[in-house]
Formats: sequence, structure tokens, C-alpha cells
Amino acid sequence: MLATHSPPRHSIKAYSKLGLHVYDPLIVNLVAPRVWGCDPDILIDHYRDHVTSNHADIGVGTGFFLDRCGLPSANPRLALIDLQPNCLEHTARRLSRYRPSTYLRDVLSPVDGIPGGPFDSVALPGILHCLAGDLTLKSRVFDNIAPLTRLGTKIFGYTLVYDGVSQSASRRLVHPLLNRLRVIDNTHDRLEDLHHALATRFIDCNVELVGCMALFSAIAPSPASLRQ
Ligand SMILES: C[S@@+](CC[C@H](N)C(=O)[O-])C[C@H]1O[C@@H](n2cnc3c(N)ncnc32)[C@H](O)[C@@H]1O
Repeated sequence: MLATHSPPRHSIKAYSKLGLHVYDPLIVNLVAPRVWGCDPDILIDHYRDHVTSNHADIGVGTGFFLDRCGLPSANPRLALIDLQPNCLEHTARRLSRYRPSTYLRDVLSPVDGIPGGPFDSVALPGILHCLAGDLTLKSRVFDNIAPLTRLGTKIFGYTLVYDGVSQSASRRLVHPLLNRLRVIDNTHDRLEDLHHALATRFIDCNVELVGCMALFSAIAPSPASLRQ
């Protein structure tokens, strides 16, 4: 693990050791299906559809979905990337059967210095809604992952958007609360902007709304055109 840059950030403050302890029962198994309107099985299936055995995961949290999806090979190349050391330690322990490598990185800067060349899949699961700013600003992460990709790399993930919030009383309560606490920052995030951010950088872009969770996938063009 190499520390490049570790300023205090709101986007990682919830992931204390205690936060990680309650994350799966509270967020994954309760809030996701009951409030976000997105059953965890849908996200597991999204992983299964796109993950490869040469995979980089950015914003790993507790590693719940990586653990449950089952990687296509018993001996994958798996890079865990996060700005929060607690998440890297927790997830590396949970996924020790795959012997993952961990990298302390801020996805708001180019994600470089990772040995072994580009990956076949890169996931950004549940991280965009934690980052500050609107989707135009957050979309920098799609440029910052260029060092991890090559032509054909699968890019996928999911993020909470505001489009579906008005449809449910619990969402109308919980979203503003989490935004006020700055655990998430998605008041200005719209499905259409996410699609635009992907379509201007990648090919074969798909965005689907499940409750207020936007599931996305795309394919990387050559790294050179990503940087343009
Ligand atoms: C909501 S959790 C998502 C966890 C998991 N991927 C999931 O789907 O349940 C967000 C993750 O993004 C990480 N994160 C937040 N800001 C980051 C940044 N600027 N750079 C890298 N990781 C970041 C957090 O530490 C945390 O692990």
C-alpha cells in the first residue's frame, strides 16, 4: 500500500471501524432495499455481469459485493483501491482467498503507480454519490482511471442519484439527512448527467435506474482518447 495523498475528506469519514461493522446489516441489507429501492441481489448480479479476473475495485467499503459475486477465477489479479485505510484493511481481510493488493489512492487525482498494467474491469461502486460537487465535477474520476484501462476495459458501478428521491417518503427523509451530514453529496446528481459523462468518454454506455440507484456500465476506448 502506498500513501500518495490523504487529506481529511467527508467522503470517507463514515468508514471508521465501527462504521464498517454496521455497514452491511444497516446499509446493504436494510437501507438499500427499503429506502433506495435497490435489492442487494441486483447489485451482486451487476457485478457478476461485468467483473473479470483482472479487476480493480475503487471505493471498496466492506467488500460485500465483491465477496458475494464470486470472481470468475480462483486466482485473479485483484486491486483494491480506496482513500480510507480502514476499508482497504477490512476488504483485503475479507477477500484474502484472492490475495488482493491494496492501494491507498484518491480517485479525485489520477490513479497511477499501480503495477502490472491495465485491468480488464474497473468498478466504481457506490463512490460517486460520496464525492462533493455535481456530476460534471465528479466525472473527473472517469478521466482519473485512465492509467488503469486499455481499449476494451469494462467500467461499471452504481451511484445514488436524485431522480427517484421524490417518489418515496423514506427517500425524501433520508437523502437530505445524509446530504446534510455530508456522508453523501448527491443533491445535484441526475441520471441524464451520468449518462452524458459516460457517453462523452466511453463506448457502449448503459445506465439503468433501480429505485434511486443508477447502475452503469461502459467500455473504455484507448487511454489516449480518454485523456482528450
Ligand atoms: C458508499 S462506500 C461504497 C462501498 C462499496 N463499494 C459498496 O458498494 O457497498 C464508498 C467508498 O468510497 C471510498 N471513497 C470515498 N471517497 C474516496 C476518494 N476520494 N478516493 C477513493 N476512495 C474514496 C470510501 O472510503 C468507501 O470505501
